[in-house]
Amino acid sequence: MSDHPILFAPGPTEVDPELREIMAMPVMGHRAPRFLEEVLAVCRKLQALFLTQATALFENCPATGLMDASVRNLVQRRILHLTCGAFGERWLKTSAACGREADALQVEWGQPNVPQVLHQKLSSSEPFEAVAVTYSETSTGCLNALQEISAVVHEVSPDTLVLVDAVSALAGAELRFDEWGLDLCFAGLQKCLALPPGLCVYALSERALQKAAQVQERGFLLDFVRARKGFASGKTTATPNTPLVFALSRQLDRIAAEGLESRWRRHAEMLAVVSAWAAAKGFEFLVDEPHRSPAVSALRNSGRVVKDLIAKAREGGFTLANGYGKLKGETFRIGHMGDHTVERLERLLACLG
Ligand SMILES: Cc1ncc(COP(=O)(O)O)c(C=O)c1O
Repeated sequence: MSDHPILFAPGPTEVDPELREIMAMPVMGHRAPRFLEEVLAVCRKLQALFLTQATALFENCPATGLMDASVRNLVQRRILHLTCGAFGERWLKTSAACGREADALQVEWGQPNVPQVLHQKLSSSEPFEAVAVTYSETSTGCLNALQEISAVVHEVSPDTLVLVDAVSALAGAELRFDEWGLDLCFAGLQKCLALPPGLCVYALSERALQKAAQVQERGFLLDFVRARKGFASGKTTATPNTPLVFALSRQLDRIAAEGLESRWRRHAEMLAVVSAWAAAKGFEFLVDEPHRSPAVSALRNSGRVVKDLIAKAREGGFTLANGYGKLKGETFRIGHMGDHTVERLERLLACLG
């Protein structure tokens, strides 16, 4: 048995001992040549992760910081949000809080956003500067048809930017930044990247950077134009969590060694294990196929008491998550993400009985 409860929450998730050891090393100055080198290396490795030739950077903030930054850098007036759960709704609120005109296509929690509805909306509206979409909605376990959604935006409204929250998708679900025509895509480290929270990684298209350069009042820390300029020589805008940057660098090597496609496949296999278990035990998914996230499953309580399931998991040495927000008690969530394996997931499911 592990010396601590193994985290099967949908983030933060379990961190490998090798990475925890890296984070315990002595702290280095963030302007030391060795660190500047590491920053440049991390950016190159992030390009490989996002599958992009465009700019890939990181910032010392939670992923919610990138919701703010996306709006402040890339939208002067109008943005359209696709929401299907709590995190899409948070992004919508962020746009309103930044004083932008924020329109939305909202579906019930548990449903995916529908590309055809987006097609109609874009065809019948004045152009939006950006469309914001949550790829894997962690509150419901829904994986949106991102490639199709992006294709609709490009077809109907080619000047509109495609902004993507990939927080519980990056490194767990197929994501091809260049091929799918994305303009901004961000994720925290605490989900499929299996590191502690603290940094947010993101990719930015050239046209997104051009747009940002025209927008006034982008703020300071999360100014994309300033960030890209500094990162060209490995200089972060402010003082980052240096041990976490080294751990990220190592984790990106580990992901490359596993192979991105193998990693996506491992996540899909874990979803298949949960699906088979749920079917056998009479638990219903909140989301129908083929929109289930390979990283997080939200299951209806199906007549069971969620608190009891969580307690059973804890007795077996695992941490499970309750439903998010209004789904608390009605659903529970399994975060089969990051460095978890089918074998470890099966051990968790076995202890739920
Ligand atoms: C899909 C999604 N977006 C955004 C966030 C916010 O991330 P953070 O807590 O790092 O700001 C989360 C966190 O769970 C998330 O799951």
